[in-house]
Amino acid sequence: MVAERGKFTNKLGFILAAAGSAVGLGNIWKFPFEVGLGGGAAFVVMYLVFCFLLCFPVMVTEIAIGRKTRKNPVGAFTSLGFKNWRFIGVFGVLAGVLILSFYNVIAGWAFGFFFEMVTGNFSVSKHFGDFTSDLVKVGTYAVIFMSATGFFVGRGVSGGIEKLSKILMPTLIIMIVIIAAYTLTLPNAFEGIKFYLIPDLNEITINTIGGALRQAFFSLSLGMGTLITYGSYLSKNDNVISSAAYITLADVSIAFVAGLMIFPLVAFINQGDMSTVASDQAGPGLIFITMPRAFETLGPNLGAFVGGTFFLLLSFAALTSTVSLLEVPTAYIVDEWGVSRKKAVLIASIIIFLVGLPSMLANGASDFFSNQFKIAGSSDFLSLVSKITDSMLLLGGMCIVIFAAHIWKKEQLNEELSNGYEGFKKKLVSKYLNFTISYVSPIILGILFVIVVLSEFFGVNVYNYLSILF
Ligand code: PFF
Repeated sequence: MVAERGKFTNKLGFILAAAGSAVGLGNIWKFPFEVGLGGGAAFVVMYLVFCFLLCFPVMVTEIAIGRKTRKNPVGAFTSLGFKNWRFIGVFGVLAGVLILSFYNVIAGWAFGFFFEMVTGNFSVSKHFGDFTSDLVKVGTYAVIFMSATGFFVGRGVSGGIEKLSKILMPTLIIMIVIIAAYTLTLPNAFEGIKFYLIPDLNEITINTIGGALRQAFFSLSLGMGTLITYGSYLSKNDNVISSAAYITLADVSIAFVAGLMIFPLVAFINQGDMSTVASDQAGPGLIFITMPRAFETLGPNLGAFVGGTFFLLLSFAALTSTVSLLEVPTAYIVDEWGVSRKKAVLIASIIIFLVGLPSMLANGASDFFSNQFKIAGSSDFLSLVSKITDSMLLLGGMCIVIFAAHIWKKEQLNEELSNGYEGFKKKLVSKYLNFTISYVSPIILGILFVIVVLSEFFGVNVYNYLSILF
């Protein structure tokens, strides 16, 4: 079984793979529409605060647990001697299965849009509903995507995951910076920038805060043990703290630039009126509806080229994330069931694909899954699963830090973090991490988890109650 475990070749390989996991649809598809729904710049401010202050310590903890134990998220807790805490890992594997089940569907859309763009079919953005309700199309793309994911996970850590990330990550960054520079030159771009970057503090509501935290967790791939798994392939000589800092920075920067790319475009399309972004235009269709309009302005040939490249790279960004999502259940099956990697990949992929079938039907193909899931304020099955998993990540993150600080104990964690970082225990960053992991993260995550669940699933607006009290 030990022979089945892989290893990243070096720290850069690890950083790129983990950043590849973090950077994906969450940054380019989800972040802009969450900003749109969450009130613009106010959401962005909260998101940045959460990423650096609250999520960074969670990321460090996950990587350290993984590297210490060299195990999947379930095995890690057992291996540290706390079998009762393996529920956190089980919960993580489950979250991974659920996230990948719908993520694969959206990734399939992105891949499908690559074909639409290269054939010059920019008008697909105006008939987005027709595209998503075409089950044959959407199903085929989802099968292709799941197979590609399985292929790379099957090839193992350094051969598949690492190689893929090393080439694709830098290319994607260059591409979105260039597109953002272009959209900033479009008429009315400044209105979009104002919406995105000048916060209106009145817009900060409990929903903005909860939404920003959920987005931060999802985007940084935290709370379900992805980084426990990736950390388990990291060498003892590498510095966990600086690796986590680079991953966070890369992820946040890409989301930020994605916003710079999208909002000027929304303003251009709406002739400067940003009032509709929070209602009819935002939502899962945002990038699929807006981006082709930008490519159209470039003319048929250049538009097809730039549009095709954009959606191809977006698909690749999604692929480095789907690979990390599939890696979690795969590592679990390999480690715990003693099955070969290839077989584990097959088992996990089939289960996930089947679980994803209702999500595939949830955007027009089936009335039942598209319109009857008005549970907890969601409009369809896919949104519901996405909401549930967002909350699972918060809960998972909270349990992981509580476990590390109070059960496994800070001293052990510090010991692990000192590997590859000489003198860590004397550094200011260690004091900061110890304090946040012990108190700040568990308390804030706990409070916000309760608030998010109450408001998202039970329609209880805690903010209203608080304003009555104070
Ligand atoms: N972080 C990925 C994204 O932003 O697209 C999604 C994701 C990957 C979430 C892996 C969670 C995870 F464990």
